[in-house]
Amino acid sequence: MLSDLANTEKKITTWPGVQIAPSQSGINEETVRCYRRATFTLNYARGFPASGVDCPLHTARDSMIMKICGELALVGAIASVFIVAAQGRAEERAAEEAAGREYILKLDEKVGQAKNKRALANWAYESNMTAYNEEQMMIVSLEVAEEEKENWKETMSYLWHEFEDEDLKRMFQKYTILGTSALPEDLNQRLIQAISNMQSTYAKATICDYKDRNKCDLHVEPETDRWRSLSEITNIFATSQDPEELKYAWLEWHRVAGAASKGNFTEYVQLNNEAAKLNGYDNAAEWWLSEYEASDSEVQFATLWSQVKPLYLQIHAYVRRHLRLKYGDEVVPARGPIPAHLLGNIWAQTWGNVEYFTRPHKDKPEVDVTAALIAQNYTALKMFQAAEDFFKSLNLSGMPDLFWERSIIERPDDGREMVCHASAWDFFDGEDFRIKQCTTITNAFFITTHHEMGHIQYYLQYKDQPQIYRSGANPGFHEAVGDVIALSVSTPKHLKKMGLLQEGPEDAESNINQLYKMGLDKIVFLPFAYVLDLFRYGVFRGTTTPESYNCHFWMLREALQGVQPPAPRSEYDFDPAAKYHVSADVEYMRHFALANSSKVLVMVAKSPIAIPGVRQFQFHRALCELAGEYTPGSDDLASCDIYNNAAAGSALGSMLSLGSSKPWPDAMEVLTGQRIMDASAVLDYFRPLYDWLIEENARTGEYIGWEASEVVLPLVFNSETRSDAEPQPGPSKRLTTE
Ligand SMILES: *[C@@H]1O[C@H](CO)[C@@H](O)[C@H](O)[C@H]1NC(C)=O
Ligand SMILES: *[C@@H]1O[C@H](CO)[C@@H](O)[C@H](O)[C@H]1NC(C)=O
Ligand SMILES: [Zn+2]
Repeated sequence: MLSDLANTEKKITTWPGVQIAPSQSGINEETVRCYRRATFTLNYARGFPASGVDCPLHTARDSMIMKICGELALVGAIASVFIVAAQGRAEERAAEEAAGREYILKLDEKVGQAKNKRALANWAYESNMTAYNEEQMMIVSLEVAEEEKENWKETMSYLWHEFEDEDLKRMFQKYTILGTSALPEDLNQRLIQAISNMQSTYAKATICDYKDRNKCDLHVEPETDRWRSLSEITNIFATSQDPEELKYAWLEWHRVAGAASKGNFTEYVQLNNEAAKLNGYDNAAEWWLSEYEASDSEVQFATLWSQVKPLYLQIHAYVRRHLRLKYGDEVVPARGPIPAHLLGNIWAQTWGNVEYFTRPHKDKPEVDVTAALIAQNYTALKMFQAAEDFFKSLNLSGMPDLFWERSIIERPDDGREMVCHASAWDFFDGEDFRIKQCTTITNAFFITTHHEMGHIQYYLQYKDQPQIYRSGANPGFHEAVGDVIALSVSTPKHLKKMGLLQEGPEDAESNINQLYKMGLDKIVFLPFAYVLDLFRYGVFRGTTTPESYNCHFWMLREALQGVQPPAPRSEYDFDPAAKYHVSADVEYMRHFALANSSKVLVMVAKSPIAIPGVRQFQFHRALCELAGEYTPGSDDLASCDIYNNAAAGSALGSMLSLGSSKPWPDAMEVLTGQRIMDASAVLDYFRPLYDWLIEENARTGEYIGWEASEVVLPLVFNSETRSDAEPQPGPSKRLTTE
């Protein structure tokens, strides 16, 4: 089990050697409390799942969620006065509603054009990061923002609360959420600039090679780079077995991509909170959470985590043992959190790269089709065509011609800087959809391509909805689509069909290997995703202040992920920004909320959903059992491939085509018959692995959980720490100018 708080407190009181220089900027009492772990008890104790099941971080705030304030409430009040006066004048009300409908349809069309313009400008910049393109993007952003604001004012003047048509009301309700344009123009400009600065810092950050300090163009993305040999940072983490090199690369990347963004992040938080207030939310955390359309979404997240946590603890303990065997007790303490630089990924967000030396059954070959892809002359284009074929096999849409014309599927060879992070774009004109991805021929990109195309599929399915509904049913849905597809694609069954894997016996040991590999990817990712937004909720709510950003970040990572930094950190560091989604202002809980995606998969694959009115999960499952497709408690779940299953495709399509026109529980119900997020299918899926790990960890006597980190604690605030965080010669020259 995790270390308990009493233990931690004891450690603090006996912890020697803290030096704090109060005069130094960036440090206040809160900083000191945090590094002494006092904050741990003050602010976070209730949120830390130290004792297991529940994580009641939210309870005091439920009432605040979706709270309407300010202008919106005022307009509502005025509206009801008018409505009372209008009673009995049904005709007038009907006329008013008709006018509202006409207005909103016109508005929706205008908004489509504005979104199109903005997406084009963003694309131009992200695919070609010049100063000119950045300026153009800013200009368009501000133009659109101004237009949105004018629209918003007009929308607010309608008495829509009293309309009869629920759908019309839903559109009005969505259009009364303005976004950051609600800010006065100068503040909005500062907000856009702050985010742009962070993105630019991230995109242009580079570090020097550990062995060749003259070579200073190493970046995190793309994952591999075939014009240079194994030199990119991601590859170092994938392949290096030298803890010193890994530590160096980890520290350097966090220095150039993280610390440099702290000031911009602080400004972004303030302005984003201001914008949230103007949209009727207490702060940006409540705003983000409102997208889940459930007053208890934080409870649901906590429940998901508590369902998955026992499995995570087993994987964690098992991996730690193997890392300890490899690197020794000194580097990997037997009962401590795992050093974050040893997990094969710079953020320790997925651990697939340690699979090759931790595989449960070493004599069974691993499922990695990289070699087969290369041997069969796969190109980026061929991978994209394979992904398209998958969607077509489900009787879903192929990619339109414009997609092939305008997507960027390989890193351009003309020396321009671009954001290589794979992304899928909707241009909101019903025709233009693109992917931007620096593909290399690997197993990982084979999966990623399917995932990104899942987003495009969603765009295509809801392209005929009003603009305001052209988004996922909730932020988790968009990610779930790609992931559901990817789950199928990565099964040996599917890879054999594709001719990428040789025929071979599918035995229990290979199955454990395969589940383990997926666990390193999917299960391990959950606490990471959860932490990233728990951290930002705290920041937006003001419980985490700039003086303790980094400390709280690591407190959360240690408590939930059970990882620790390779060296002591301070508030001169800002490690969250070394992750793209923090620097780019992208909400991340969506990645966590899709934990139930394998349930969706199971439902899609196994349910004859075409039967109208059949909504009960049990009923679907019973049918599947009758069909001999799935037996509860069996190991079949992990080997299901929905390829070529048109019934599954049409069920999926009918959910996707709803966009956000209905609350997400309705959309989920269409597919699964369930209305709440539930991770039990995840556990069903991984059950054979879970059982195996429990036995294996017991056999080796591995400690389950972790005690308090020895690394996070002894932070020394002195001048050395400070100079460490300042730019050093080398890569920094690339940071300052275009
Ligand atoms: C990149 O943007 C610049 C404008 O700043 C433009 O002149 C150039 O043609 C663009 N490059 C590509 C490859 O589109
Ligand atoms: C770096 O470059 C300088 C000058 O080009 C050279 O003298 C030095 O040996 C190089 N250092 C390394 C570690 O290669
Ligand atoms: Zn995605």
